[in-house]
Amino acid sequence: MPKTPDPEAVPKRVEDFPVRFANPKVYSPMAMSRVAARSEMNMKAILLAFTSLLATSVLAQTIIVHVDRPLHPISPTFFGMMTEEINHAYDGGLYAELLQNRTLQDDDKPTHWSFIGPEGSGSVDLDTTHPVPDTAYSRCLKVRNGGVANEGYWGMAVLPKTTYHGSFYAMAGPGFSGSLSVSLTSADGTQTWATAQIGGIKNGWKRFDFTLKTANIAASQANRFAITPTEKGGSFFIAGATLFPPTYKNRANGNRSDLMAKMADLNPSFLRLPGGNYLEGNNLASRYNFKDTIGPLSGRKGHPGTWGYRSSDGLGFLEFLEWCEDLKCQPVLAVFAGYALNGEHVAAGPGLQPYVQDALDEIEYVTGDTHTKWGAIRAANGHPKPFRLTYVEVGNEDAFDRSGSYDGRYTQFYDAIKTKYPKLQIIATAPVKTRRPDVLDDHYYSPAREMAKLAKKYDSYDRSGPKIFVGEWASLEGGPTPDHKSALGDAAFLTGLERNSDHVVMESYAPLFTNMNRGAAQWNTNLIGYDALNSFGSPSYWVQSMFGKNTGDTVLTTDVLTPTQTAVPFTGGIGVGSNETQVEYKDVTVTDGIRFIPLADVSKWQKRGDWTIDGSHLTSGLGRNDRATTGDLSWADYTLQAKARRVSGKEGFVVVFHSIDGRNFWQWNIGAVGNTESVVQRQEVWDFRAVAPSTKLKLEDDRWYDIKVELKGESIRCFLDGSLVHEIHLDPDPIDAVYSSATLVKSTGEIILKLVNFSDKPTQLPARIVGSSAGSFRSTGWVMSGALGDQNNLQEPTKVIPRELPARMFKSGDRIDLPPYSIVVVRLKPA
Ligand code: AHR
Repeated sequence: MPKTPDPEAVPKRVEDFPVRFANPKVYSPMAMSRVAARSEMNMKAILLAFTSLLATSVLAQTIIVHVDRPLHPISPTFFGMMTEEINHAYDGGLYAELLQNRTLQDDDKPTHWSFIGPEGSGSVDLDTTHPVPDTAYSRCLKVRNGGVANEGYWGMAVLPKTTYHGSFYAMAGPGFSGSLSVSLTSADGTQTWATAQIGGIKNGWKRFDFTLKTANIAASQANRFAITPTEKGGSFFIAGATLFPPTYKNRANGNRSDLMAKMADLNPSFLRLPGGNYLEGNNLASRYNFKDTIGPLSGRKGHPGTWGYRSSDGLGFLEFLEWCEDLKCQPVLAVFAGYALNGEHVAAGPGLQPYVQDALDEIEYVTGDTHTKWGAIRAANGHPKPFRLTYVEVGNEDAFDRSGSYDGRYTQFYDAIKTKYPKLQIIATAPVKTRRPDVLDDHYYSPAREMAKLAKKYDSYDRSGPKIFVGEWASLEGGPTPDHKSALGDAAFLTGLERNSDHVVMESYAPLFTNMNRGAAQWNTNLIGYDALNSFGSPSYWVQSMFGKNTGDTVLTTDVLTPTQTAVPFTGGIGVGSNETQVEYKDVTVTDGIRFIPLADVSKWQKRGDWTIDGSHLTSGLGRNDRATTGDLSWADYTLQAKARRVSGKEGFVVVFHSIDGRNFWQWNIGAVGNTESVVQRQEVWDFRAVAPSTKLKLEDDRWYDIKVELKGESIRCFLDGSLVHEIHLDPDPIDAVYSSATLVKSTGEIILKLVNFSDKPTQLPARIVGSSAGSFRSTGWVMSGALGDQNNLQEPTKVIPRELPARMFKSGDRIDLPPYSIVVVRLKPA
């Protein structure tokens, strides 16, 4: 599974998706060959002469906050969270289970389990002939002449002075005698951190419970869980093994405390669950079905997820609700609505009715008292008290259903739910005509600059339509967690949502979590990262925290006088590629004009497709849109050179630059459209377009060409064998330098100002407070600043975090310091 999803790998499938994405055109491989033909149309985007309109200073700006002109209350459900099983968010993430592949359904071999003992002396096999009666454990491990270990999820956190609770089903096999030892050990088995003995293993399955207690050891994660027989020889069977550390609020089958604490700190008012694509399933059969995820763990077999791995369903539906309870927030319940990711759908009518009934049952499980069928089942599962529920969402991203069936499906769900639960608000995931949804769910995933522009999206939005839930959104730069540039884009976007929170009643960033280990993630920008032992919040997480904790209750009118604009610099790494063409590249160099910028060993470049590496030579396969890239966001104003040779296939060379990630980069496509044209293109999330007119060009076979791309500011110059092929001066595409919103805490008269400086210039912004009876204020607050490419990670978890501002006295007209690239929250309390 690639760490950085390419557009082709991300399940975005609709060319024409006008409602919810900033970049409505979706990239498809075919679109690439159409790009040159469309380039004339795209010319509007280009200014041929360099413009000097960019402001060099933002000093002239002033913000006026009108305390006497309140706009509207902020929706009480404004800040929330969205969750699904992606990037090992639950299994290998929030869900505290330490053992991977508990149900042994992940594979047709005992994946994540291994034999302990001299090589060749014994074995661990997956056994399908000894199911454990009255459980979902149809498979077990058969261990012969030795022991068995579970590797956990990229290791296993072992902490000092900690008690772990575990259990498994065990049965003696031929020749077994003695008992079993269970232990937590280092991954190589040389150190034992805790151990316990289990006797009474007989013919016939029996469940055994145990505890493991560690001494005052150092915390570590390169560990495993081992089950070994005390006597040599013989065989035994194990099924349904589980092991838990202490959990948040000590819930049995509960969640990791560090991740729960991070969410609690965001002060969310809701949790949108259970997905996302995870709700829909890859096909109808593997949709999310809450009924398979409740009751004792031994009854849960798990199900195939939508992000390339199986879900244990250990974190099942009741655990979702308890997660909400622990965070004192409400679930926003997304119900499966008859459409799966492979395009299968169930048309409205009798065939859809069982799914509608499932949704009604699910709502009853959440809200019903113990006299109702599903309320009683919830009580039997351990939670007699019903949960609060205000919003039910019908499906997820149903605009992708090209059959046009959503209107009918939504209507059937809407009518059934409203009839039984008239007070529930029903969210639609795409526009519908037959019913008027209470709320419409809009999703935005875009580069930071575009997210900042979207801050104005709802300012002039038609208020007569359904309310808006921005149920998934994120600035997409930095991976696997967003960088500071994304945080600026997020903060700018949030000021716009907050300003419009009369109509935008809810928002939730997505995705929430990523396991940081290689191969664990499927999505590039995720709010919170972790491994088995540690976790951190990205700069975007801190934006959510700064905004979520400082809401106020009423939005105030603000004016920004003489707003100025700023350019967001073009930066990023480099690469080479090909499209259904075998190309050989050598001597790739990057220089900033003074010195060569060292390139990583080509074998370590990030690759999409089949590449053959021979020393510094890279040869592509014949795949579609293959790429090998390196470098990072700090690279600006450089010259990229390479030698390239066409070996076979339809097209020519692809040279990548300004590369942010697999979905945001620029490329010079030499030999595009069946080796007839040369064109410079920009890939932005799902939009792939020419940025200047193409030119006729045909490459010869088996001949080495010299390629050079010179990048300086907004200028791009492309040379082939020393001849200038393209000279492009880009529109710097400026955005506002400062974004703002202001709210009031009515009871105290406190004013909360949120300010985002998206420019590289420090500024002191005069803030005039109009209409307040207070002559002066006590000012407190937080500031977060950094370089655009700065990221937090497991090694440097707090590189970009908010800093508290010293308290001071503030009078109307005083200046607020906005460092370059900063997000500032100021609270002004009448003194
Ligand atoms: O957040 C990741 C995915 O993006 C969600 O599963 C899906 O709803 C959207 O397309």
